[in-house]
Amino acid sequence: MKKKIAFITGITGQDGSLLAKLLLNKNYIVHGIKRRASSFNTKRIDSIYQDHQNKSKRLILHYGDLTDSLSLYDLLNKIKPDEIYNLGAQSHVAISFINPEYTTNVDGIGNLRLLDAISKLKFKKSVKFFQASTSEMYGNQKKTLNEDSIFEPVSPYASAKLLAYWNTKIYRQAYGIFASNGIMFNHESSQRGENFISKKTTKAVAEISLGLRDILYVGNLNSYRDWGYAGDYVEAMWKIMQYKKPDDFVIATNKTHSVRRFIEIAFKRVGIKIIWKGKGINEVGFEKKSKKILVKVDKIYFRPNEVEYLKGNYSKINKLIGWKPKMTFEKLVNKMVDYDLKKLKNK
Ligand code: NAP
Ligand code: GDD
Repeated sequence: MKKKIAFITGITGQDGSLLAKLLLNKNYIVHGIKRRASSFNTKRIDSIYQDHQNKSKRLILHYGDLTDSLSLYDLLNKIKPDEIYNLGAQSHVAISFINPEYTTNVDGIGNLRLLDAISKLKFKKSVKFFQASTSEMYGNQKKTLNEDSIFEPVSPYASAKLLAYWNTKIYRQAYGIFASNGIMFNHESSQRGENFISKKTTKAVAEISLGLRDILYVGNLNSYRDWGYAGDYVEAMWKIMQYKKPDDFVIATNKTHSVRRFIEIAFKRVGIKIIWKGKGINEVGFEKKSKKILVKVDKIYFRPNEVEYLKGNYSKINKLIGWKPKMTFEKLVNKMVDYDLKKLKNK
């Protein structure tokens, strides 16, 4: 049987690397674009790298960028993928306030470049397209969110992603392209970027417990996120692409936890009980036993606009596709702390 061919943007990122592994295990041929960088940016996929000279290789990397229309068209035309996963993005919400134009170009127009390229391909009717949409598009509604909830983005990242979300729907309707949105709530893993709160916390906790660092500096302790496991979410992406028709699906856990709770659980894993004292930017977290201050708030990590509360409802994907998250929140935090501890101990 002919092997399926996948094309992944963002293959060097958290989700892209996990998805590439999943698809290789399913016997796909996987193509991905990596950006030119002055130092290697492929560490998340080094374990699955296959030499260019290997005739039967199933992982093939190309230089590419979501800001470069013609090269995207060229690659798609040559590779003729069955499935395209658009995971490439400037994915940090706070940084989108600092680099708004770039974020809009990559996250918003990048999606349009791909969709428009697909619409001009002879085989457009046989290609499937997945767009990595985000719960950030909902903004600040403080209620449980599903596919029928309205969107009220509050950051350049979220508005760029909303542009991509709508164009995915528009190209589905206008050209009959199989184009689906996964509206994903936060998902983490040991492979998470180090400036997201989950990884930043678990890495700092591991370092503090080994005496390699004194303090974890954070921003808003009181925001809530619906945190799931990235391994479960890439499974959902693949399942959405195997569904009989294109559609839009929330991918979430139906639960929400505060940043404060995340930090408490991470410290608990290394035997430290955190007690909070003070208010606002003067709040600190100290170790109950030693009274040492281990967590401090720094206003540099606050955003000009904050999404205070996110909680999704995954009923639709569960009912139509049979997907549900497998990993619990506590297990996820523990797994991330354990990974960071092991990595430091093996250094
Ligand atoms: P990530 O770890 O930040 O990975 C982003 C990927 O995009 C990296 O491979 C990055 O390349 C690549 N990229 C950045 N700019 C690019 C450009 N101009 N052209 C081509 N590629 C570019 O993000 P993630 O957590 O895996 O998330 C994957 C996708 O899901 C993103 O679109 C994100 O916005 C979306 N999403 C994520 C979550 C979540 O909680 N993780 C939730 C909802 C939606 P480098 O490695 O070279 O930087
Ligand atoms: N990054 C970071 N660093 N966030 C902090 C910090 C800190 O020091 N202190 C508190 N926070 C708070 C943020 O203000 C936010 O409310 C929450 O922790 C989560 O922040 P991030 O981990 O940076 O993730 P995010 O929710 O902004 O965005 C992630 O999830 C989106 C889906 O909801 C990213 O993965 C996006 O790409 C994704 O679309």
